[in-house]
Amino acid sequence: MDIHSSGKALGASIEGMDLAQPIPDSDFKQILRALGEHGVLCFPKQRLETEQFARFGRRFGELEINVANQFHEPGFPEVMVLSNMTENGKPIGLGDAGQGWHTDMSYSKEIALANVLYAIKVPARDGRPLGDTQFRNMHAAYEDLPDEIKRRLEGRTATHDFAKFWDMMRARPGSRRAALTAEQRAKKPPVSQPIFRTHPITGRTVLYCNPGYATRIDGMPEAESAELLEYLFKHQQQRKYFYAHAWAEGDVLMWDNIGTVHNAVADYLPDEPRYMRRVQVMATKDYARLAA
Ligand code: OGA
Ligand code: MN
Repeated sequence: MDIHSSGKALGASIEGMDLAQPIPDSDFKQILRALGEHGVLCFPKQRLETEQFARFGRRFGELEINVANQFHEPGFPEVMVLSNMTENGKPIGLGDAGQGWHTDMSYSKEIALANVLYAIKVPARDGRPLGDTQFRNMHAAYEDLPDEIKRRLEGRTATHDFAKFWDMMRARPGSRRAALTAEQRAKKPPVSQPIFRTHPITGRTVLYCNPGYATRIDGMPEAESAELLEYLFKHQQQRKYFYAHAWAEGDVLMWDNIGTVHNAVADYLPDEPRYMRRVQVMATKDYARLAA
């Protein structure tokens, strides 16, 4: 396999791999290390059955089954469909996934290692792809924090709430999202997460606090919490941490959900179809050992 770094804040492409084939241990280790180092990995020109795609994801950890997800591939509850397409006027996928900066699953006690998307249909206009996925590097964002902020937040946790992002998306004009039911909310109660955490692959500290889900810093007066969260969100927005993936059909994109935040760009119209398959890989393995 050939790993080409983008030379930017994040991102590498890995050529010469057919993800339909089982991955030998030595390749797996290389991919895992590359995920820690580059944060976003693109495997271009893949042709995968849904089962092969799920198997690739499962190699890295258990796959999540989303409580609010009625959109999945038939027979594969763990393979979610992200799409703006409709059939007989009805949506066939979640149409607005990830439109706002966030980290997947930070609202869950068990956090995610990675998200993997497989591009089936990519919208384009005038020969340029639309619907980029954007990222920011939270290893670098942590390192650059002033010592005074690091001291104030050392050992602190923040509350993350699934409903924050959901309700924000629902409030947008034209949203098709239904209000979360009491049962759905009960399945996703707010959780506390360390603001600084050790990345299981790199062993380095990352800033694990995203505007999509983090609602407050625990055990701090509300005003101080709000001021610090605003500081962290602004800090992590800096251009130097930024990377954007422009999609091509056949791309499998795997991103680190501990050391990055991301955002889906909604710059395409309802008649410009986008269709992605997705699996969410939970951090259920001993990655430090597997990457060593
Ligand atoms: C997600 C997500 C981004 C995209 O699936 O969690 O943020 O570009 N998707 O579809
Ligand atoms: Mn996401």
